[in-house]
Amino acid sequence: MKSAVLCSGGDAPGMNACVRAVVRSATTLGCQVVGIRYGYQGLLDEDFFVNENGDTLMTPRSVAHVMQYGGTLLRSRRCEEFATDEGLTRAANNLRKHNVEGLVVIGGDGTLRGAADLCRHWEGNVIACPATIDNDLAGTDHTIGFATAVATAVEAIDKLRDTAESHERMFLVEVMGRHSGHLALDTAIASGAEFACVPETPTDVPSMIQRVHELKARGKTSIIIVIAEGGKQGGANVLDRKFRDANCPFPTRTLTLGHVQRGGTPTPADRILATRLGDHAVSNLVAGASSVMTGQIGGKLVLTPLVDTYRDHKPLPIGFQELLTRMTC
Ligand code: F6P
Repeated sequence: MKSAVLCSGGDAPGMNACVRAVVRSATTLGCQVVGIRYGYQGLLDEDFFVNENGDTLMTPRSVAHVMQYGGTLLRSRRCEEFATDEGLTRAANNLRKHNVEGLVVIGGDGTLRGAADLCRHWEGNVIACPATIDNDLAGTDHTIGFATAVATAVEAIDKLRDTAESHERMFLVEVMGRHSGHLALDTAIASGAEFACVPETPTDVPSMIQRVHELKARGKTSIIIVIAEGGKQGGANVLDRKFRDANCPFPTRTLTLGHVQRGGTPTPADRILATRLGDHAVSNLVAGASSVMTGQIGGKLVLTPLVDTYRDHKPLPIGFQELLTRMTC
């Protein structure tokens, strides 16, 4: 079987480990693999990874010593043309032209939507591996890259806490996550932040201010609020103005972490997850599965129909918001 692998959409730490697993598992099972560069854009442009021998088949050596790096050796793009019928037809024709029978796509919700659309235009098998720092896909407890992004945000907040304590300030830290609060909530719990503002629940500034006054009266000398970028309350700068207008008892500063959360060395947990999911994708591709995403739920590897992974909003873990509230006293 000749298969292909690509990374699409926003990069996530662990994508390289997943590509490595796909290539090595496929090789072990006697399959050929081509690497498509720049995601769906590269599929439209027939832009293939060229190996150390100058040809387009990926070998185990093509993915040697890559798992410790963030980003993706295959590069990534967001591709609007792929969302059109013309783009999908061209992509399907390119796969036929190169005799590809199976495709592994690695990415987030946009990538998985694209994969589901491609399945309606192409007779080959498509399996997705979830890789996004947003952790907003159902069918897996965690997406590849989420653990590393949380670790990166926590490391930054640990540093902020030092200066917040020295100056007795309140910091509003905005993290990514698109429309999801997973990254913000896990970061808040792991960094010992006092509050998390997430899209899943309303943010009530007056009651938060009242709580900040109570916490100060109890001896708290610094406050950290983690804010999900997708919250209806606005980002860190908007909320900062609201807090200042509402007579916040601490001087405030804001920080937007931005794309720094997407890079860096993947944690061991992300490398292991990426390796398991990449390997699982290939074995199922060879067994004839299609239009599904590999995931890990409660430690077990599972397959979920693509459409079920992005159709509904993935709820925050049960009890995490209450846990954070209990820690803020
Ligand atoms: O989906 C990953 C993500 O980093 C989101 O958290 C964020 O909203 C978005 O991508 C940023 O996209 P871009 O890199 O295209 O600005």
